[in-house]
Amino acid sequence: MNILLIGSGGREHALAWKLLQSPRLRKLYIAPGNAGTAMLGENVPLAASDTKGLLSFAQEKKIDLTIVGPDDPLALGIVDLFEAEGLRIFGPSQLGARLESSKSFAKDFMNRHGIPTAASKTFTTSSAASAYVQTANYPLVIKADGLALGKGVIIATKREEALGAIHQSMDLGLFGAAGRTILIEEFLSGVECSLHALVDGKSKLLFPDARDHKRVFDGNRGPNTGGMGTISPSGLLDAQVEKTLERMLFEPLLRGLKADSLPFRGMLFPGIMLTEEGPKVLEFNCRFGDPETQVFLRRLKSDLLDLLEATVDGTLANEEPSWEERSAVCIVLASGGYPGSSEKGKIIQGLTAAQALDPDIVLFHAGVVQEGSSYYTAGGRVLGITALGATLQEASQRAYAAAELIHFEGKHYRRDIGVGIRTI
Ligand code: AMP
Ligand code: GLY
Repeated sequence: MNILLIGSGGREHALAWKLLQSPRLRKLYIAPGNAGTAMLGENVPLAASDTKGLLSFAQEKKIDLTIVGPDDPLALGIVDLFEAEGLRIFGPSQLGARLESSKSFAKDFMNRHGIPTAASKTFTTSSAASAYVQTANYPLVIKADGLALGKGVIIATKREEALGAIHQSMDLGLFGAAGRTILIEEFLSGVECSLHALVDGKSKLLFPDARDHKRVFDGNRGPNTGGMGTISPSGLLDAQVEKTLERMLFEPLLRGLKADSLPFRGMLFPGIMLTEEGPKVLEFNCRFGDPETQVFLRRLKSDLLDLLEATVDGTLANEEPSWEERSAVCIVLASGGYPGSSEKGKIIQGLTAAQALDPDIVLFHAGVVQEGSSYYTAGGRVLGITALGATLQEASQRAYAAAELIHFEGKHYRRDIGVGIRTI
């Protein structure tokens, strides 16, 4: 098969790495890709948001399946565009993707279909939002309605913070159009987890559990990021909790998609808070997580292409993938300044030494560009260092040993990914 993979992050390098193991893959194109995907297939200089350009390319190269990595092209309706031309594509329709691209849409969907979530109110003017927070209980959570690279959520502990966040988002346009409408919601405390499930409109296929580390500093301190590292299994969920999540979240979700005629064939991954009152959904993501994908694909033993095709064809009920018993860890090395505006163009050294340390290490590139035989940072998250181990500790030690051998100016990473966590 000829495959077109859209995106340029660590997630896409991991998807490309796994797709290459499929005996059915003939030619792999990645648009626009990164230095890591260039080693596995042909990078195509088309932006992920250039939906028309991508369509023409897929038609010209007789692509059998297009796989969408990031959220933006989904929100722009790339799936509808390809399907209207009779092309097969993995991902939800524009309407289905609104579960991620509009938090108020998702909230309304959850409330109508009995999916537990935090109580919230939607505001379209800063004066109404500001009046509301004058008398509200704290802490409370202020969320940009649209896509904001995982940075559009502010937890306000007092009124001044809430007013500041409203002003920045709604009046100053900190998140652009995404933040002109906001949600103000109840603060939930508990243990946070997420689950990934492929959904084909009729059935779902749950992935093993994984845990992201969203805050930039150790011990979950500092601002939120796209994700600084992942472990799988998470050490948080046992079989019973997973069953509860299936029953309370995924089953009403599938019923809701059907009842609302929301076409959805792709990956759905809710962020969940396990509260004293039971599990509640914080948000939906309509794509593979980054860096969750990196650990999943280290653990997936079956052919990824089979699973993606079954999702598109509506035959997921027949799939029974097998997974590594071993644990997987991914440690993200980020550019100086991330998650704020970050440095670029720093030479990366030690990649060969890190790889040579252990054949079990796989380095997934994200913000990396190659020039000649040298690699340079392109800002943001730069690399995801992954390893397997009999335990999370073992996997984590292996990944950290490799992480320490890689150098670039401003490099920073968390030191507590998979450290001290017991697997349930
Ligand atoms: P979201 O993008 O909606 O998942 O929010 C990003 C992060 O903000 C989540 O991973 C949580 O850590 C936190 N968060 C979001 N909503 C709430 C809430 N209602 N209560 C407490 N924390 C929240
Ligand atoms: N790592 C979280 C996400 O991909 O949204």
